[in-house]
Amino acid sequence: MVAMSNLARALSLGGLLFWGACQDSAPAEVLLTERPLALRQVKWNAKDVPTGNIAAVADLNEDTVVFSDLGAMVFTAGLPLGTDPVAKSWKTATVIPAGDLAGSWLIGIDGSGRIRRLRDRSVMEDVSDRYGLGSDVVEEAVAADPTTRTVFGLAGKLAVADGQKVTRYSLSLHGLAGGSGRVVGLSDGGVTVFTPTTGAVMRFPVDSPVAALFDTAGRLVVATADTLYREDKKALVKLYVSSDAPLRGLQLSSGVVWVQVGDTLAVLDESEVRRAPSAALPADGKLLSSSTGDIWVLSQGTLRRFGEDTGGGAAEDQWKNTVQPVFTRLCSLCHMPGGSANLDLSTYKSWDTRRALMMQRVVDAKPSPMPPKGAGALTQDELTAVRDWLNAPP
Ligand code: HEC
Repeated sequence: MVAMSNLARALSLGGLLFWGACQDSAPAEVLLTERPLALRQVKWNAKDVPTGNIAAVADLNEDTVVFSDLGAMVFTAGLPLGTDPVAKSWKTATVIPAGDLAGSWLIGIDGSGRIRRLRDRSVMEDVSDRYGLGSDVVEEAVAADPTTRTVFGLAGKLAVADGQKVTRYSLSLHGLAGGSGRVVGLSDGGVTVFTPTTGAVMRFPVDSPVAALFDTAGRLVVATADTLYREDKKALVKLYVSSDAPLRGLQLSSGVVWVQVGDTLAVLDESEVRRAPSAALPADGKLLSSSTGDIWVLSQGTLRRFGEDTGGGAAEDQWKNTVQPVFTRLCSLCHMPGGSANLDLSTYKSWDTRRALMMQRVVDAKPSPMPPKGAGALTQDELTAVRDWLNAPP
């Protein structure tokens, strides 16, 4: 345990600088074309264990934590590891920089506003103090960037924790999302972008925003009931208009911008919107982020996971549940698109077409092991998961 003695709890009221969005010389709008998206519901709870009434979910590396009225249930490779019943009501969950900035923590915010992190893959430890928020009721949390700054939503305030101190700003925002050093939230009459390093605030007037986030290029994306906008040269440019079904939500999952359109899902790409046929999603569906690139849809206490259908069927579900977490933990360092190994192994297809090679290198470690010596090793369970998947071809 890292002591929190070096977390100086300097509580200052940060200075706020306001800027209006610059509307001059706004780029010309060109609406994106729409194409079909093949969507697949991914079975995530392989053994159908009872999950209670779910309020939130977050995943980090191999672990997925489902927060429900049974407590915090930890799933690894699609199987339940255990449940911490410490809290049975939850507001939200996410992954943020650790209190001491040593890595990332998967956290849930419980019904009384305490921040709890997953420790030892088993218990939800109260870490409000570690962020200097021991006497606060926290509503929301987002990483402004993955490693150094977390922004917490409190009643009528934002609190920025940077590993050293916490700084409070009187800014009332909800529906927070973060990325590339900025945070966005919904406010009366528009969306507000806050930059924690400078205290700068920029308002974008938008009629009844539904949701806002930053894409991986750091551009603001905003949804209203019928229009998607994306930031270009400090202005919001209209990208897509849905005339037949309302836009209900927006979420970033590992680089993929998911949109709920009516009762189905769409993906916002650079130059097109791909939209699935009806998926019978409820109107109150809430989109929650997944580090896998898939999207969680939560409604009435029930959680569903969706991904793009690339044709792998049940073998792909099994891969997503049991092998992809191994990839994330042990291979992604070198095998992401553009990675140092010069071989993209981030997709189901890339594994499916290399089954024999995977068996050789990963399971039999011949002629040399993968991951290479010194870059970590699979646990016995992970090895079994990979072998089982390889031995059960589609
Ligand atoms: C530290 C970087 C690193 C990590 C981590 C790593 N690899 Fe590799 N991998 C490489 C490099 C470099 C090569 C190319 C040289 C070689 O084949 O040994 C490679 C090659 C491979 C190959 C052979 C490709 C071919 O066409 O011959 C496979 C299969 C593979 N890796 C799978 C994996 C898997 C699965 C993991 C995780 C369980 C993993 N690697 C983790 C760096 C890495």
